[in-house]
Amino acid sequence: MQESLFIRGLSGEKKLRGEISVNTAKNAVLKAMTASVLFEDEVTLIDVPNIEDVHRMAELLNNLGVEVKEEGRSLSITTKPDISTNLNTEISERLRTSIVLVGPLLSRFGNVSFPHPGGCVIGARPIDFFLEGFEKFGAEITHDNDRYEIKAKGGKLKGADIFFKSQTHTGTETMMMTAVLADGKTTLKNCATEPEIKDLADFLNLCGANITGAGTSTIEIEGGDLLRTNGKEHRVIPDRIETGSFLILGALCADELTINNCNPAHVEVLIEILRRSGVSIQTEVDKIIIKNNGAIKNKSFTSTDVKTHEYPGFPTDLQAPMVVYLTQVTGESLVHETIFEGRLNYTTDLARMGADITMWDAHRVEIKGPTPLTGRTLGSPDLRAGLAFVIAASVAKGNSLINNVYYIDRGYEHIETRLAKLGLDITRTNRTE
Ligand code: EPU
Repeated sequence: MQESLFIRGLSGEKKLRGEISVNTAKNAVLKAMTASVLFEDEVTLIDVPNIEDVHRMAELLNNLGVEVKEEGRSLSITTKPDISTNLNTEISERLRTSIVLVGPLLSRFGNVSFPHPGGCVIGARPIDFFLEGFEKFGAEITHDNDRYEIKAKGGKLKGADIFFKSQTHTGTETMMMTAVLADGKTTLKNCATEPEIKDLADFLNLCGANITGAGTSTIEIEGGDLLRTNGKEHRVIPDRIETGSFLILGALCADELTINNCNPAHVEVLIEILRRSGVSIQTEVDKIIIKNNGAIKNKSFTSTDVKTHEYPGFPTDLQAPMVVYLTQVTGESLVHETIFEGRLNYTTDLARMGADITMWDAHRVEIKGPTPLTGRTLGSPDLRAGLAFVIAASVAKGNSLINNVYYIDRGYEHIETRLAKLGLDITRTNRTE
């Protein structure tokens, strides 16, 4: 069933108020789920967000014969020695993270068969770094009938030296997990440094892995035996993209907002930019507070140029909400999306709402602000742009209908219920246009 979000805009008034809690990170939970294949015993993940991508990963694992038990917000995953290693085509084509699962499966079982992964349409999203990496571990790859078949020579992978041509988030995580059961030492260089990578390494190390340097550009892994949780449960880090999106929504639409259960250090770059543009933000260990925002609503902000960058730079996953923010800031801003080439297409819809946005090329847009936005019917193109539309519709004058809410559900749990608690008039409906 197609569902939409109906939002009555606030006409630029800062009327939202209250507290919102951040869930655990989608991009950390999904990796922890794939890591469960490296374990001899049951892996229990707690406080797991109820989002589509998690359900899909559970489905993909289940389809292989991995046992995934869901109890409230906990997931318990057991990988027996006799599972299949043929990834289901239909599920994999709907989930980019299916490629991450290939690493642990190959490392433990010595062979995997999988299709080209799917996911959000935000660029070409090749998998060459993964294939080259697996080959360095001593795997042989054949590509036939739209599927890749990978086999470890001699049935077992060997530690490898890998230099990533450019930083890759899931590539780093996948090679790190692949190395955990490979024979000998692996060195990964020019690694991505996102907090989800360190979180994954910390979890694996607690359970017997030997990984050093995660979170820096060089990671070393000493291969060993299957991991064991010995009953320890794992709660992944808070979602920094959810945190940042709520912060941008608050900066635009709330007079007072407390964002609980987050790590402000993971969104430092955003806090810095928002503060410079006049938003009063306080931070505590696990909270971000916007205060007296209403009082500065007439203040003239200054424009800001934003360039997406690997962590700790400005995250590409917050680029779309940031563009919405910049439509409300005085002056000209340039946003340069350096990571994905298809991630600015949603800006044509913002322009239809009244934003003054010029696309220079696939990677750059110029935004002149402030411009009032007017509500309209929008189609969510991917999960991050979908949430940006929610923010734009909240700022706008009049009503908006956001179709394809399915994309938003992939990464954000019950967004309408959580934002309604802040005073936003937002409802889920079967109506589409
Ligand atoms: N790339 C290649 N070859 C590869 C892999 C990547 O050329 O084999 C390129 C990509 O095309 C891109 C660049 O390398 O231009 C960086 O991509 P990266 O591999 O870092 O992205 P990813 O690992 O596929 C993860 C997140 C994305 C997030 C990016 C950047 C997960 C599941 N996905 O993707 O999250 O945007 O890192 O931080 O962790 C999202 O959650 O909405 C999302 C898209």
